[in-house]
Amino acid sequence: MTNNFKHLTSIKGQVAVVTGGTAGIGGACTERFAFEGATTIALGRVVAKGEKLIDRLRESGHEAHFLACDCANEDQVLEISKVIQERWGRADILCNIAGGWLEAPPIEGVTIEALNHSYSWNITSKFLMTKALVPLMKKNGYGRIVNMSSTTGRRGRVDAAIQYSTMEAGVLGFTRALAMQLAPFGITVNAIAPGTTRTPRAERHSEERLAATARGIPVGRLGLAAEQAHAIWYLCTPGAAFTTGATLDVNGGNWTG
Ligand SMILES: NC(=O)c1ccc[n+]([C@@H]2O[C@H](COP(=O)([O-])OP(=O)(O)OC[C@H]3O[C@@H](n4cnc5c(N)ncnc54)[C@H](OP(=O)(O)O)[C@@H]3O)[C@@H](O)[C@H]2O)c1
Repeated sequence: MTNNFKHLTSIKGQVAVVTGGTAGIGGACTERFAFEGATTIALGRVVAKGEKLIDRLRESGHEAHFLACDCANEDQVLEISKVIQERWGRADILCNIAGGWLEAPPIEGVTIEALNHSYSWNITSKFLMTKALVPLMKKNGYGRIVNMSSTTGRRGRVDAAIQYSTMEAGVLGFTRALAMQLAPFGITVNAIAPGTTRTPRAERHSEERLAATARGIPVGRLGLAAEQAHAIWYLCTPGAAFTTGATLDVNGGNWTG
């Protein structure tokens, strides 16, 4: 008998939703899932960016869709989840990638608005999308949810925004609690904690600063979005059924627990 392990690794034909799926790490997830044969739905706010990526994927024969959505906005998330339910009737994979960080002033310079903005961007967006799509997963008795955290949620970092580090640690609590709740339904929930990775957002920093960051990483370079997407893909495969409530550190050895 041959066992090619395809049943453990294939997501072909599944429906995958990627928030923040139009650029950077989320964009790489959209590409990866589409290449794996999943019906991939990328969510993002800027329409032109989303359509450009989807056009490129479709030209190379892959099934990918873009839906405009600010995932931190409850009305928009409810609307989009209705569209997903009506058009595809299922959601096997949800990658909550939307989020980000801004500047990192000392605490005296962090306003309550900045704190609340970071909360809404990094936590509310994950909460809303998950709450909206979990009923579809429960109905099928299957689901893979991956929440984006960061090395900054795992350890202190002098150059990280306090509000961002706070939220990225919060994502880990959200992930663990949800993993416990959803385990009986065949739904796994895990977090990924990337170290600094070359994306449009990271590249807003100067090359000098990125080079200094790379020098502190044992593998001697920054991460690639495709490498993060590869780790996320693993967590989304059928074979990752016994991995739940975990945090996967993908940081070139920068932090090892
Ligand atoms: N790059 C790193 O070094 C690094 C390290 C650790 C963790 N992370 C985390 O990884 C995630 C992606 O980071 P990145 O560097 O790839 O960012 P990026 O280059 O800025 O790309 C982010 C993508 O998310 C979309 N997006 C942002 N906010 C959104 C929202 N509210 N609703 C829907 N889409 C939204 C953006 O498109 P629109 O602007 O069109 O919406 C864009 O396509 C973030 O959560 C970040 O905190 C990144």
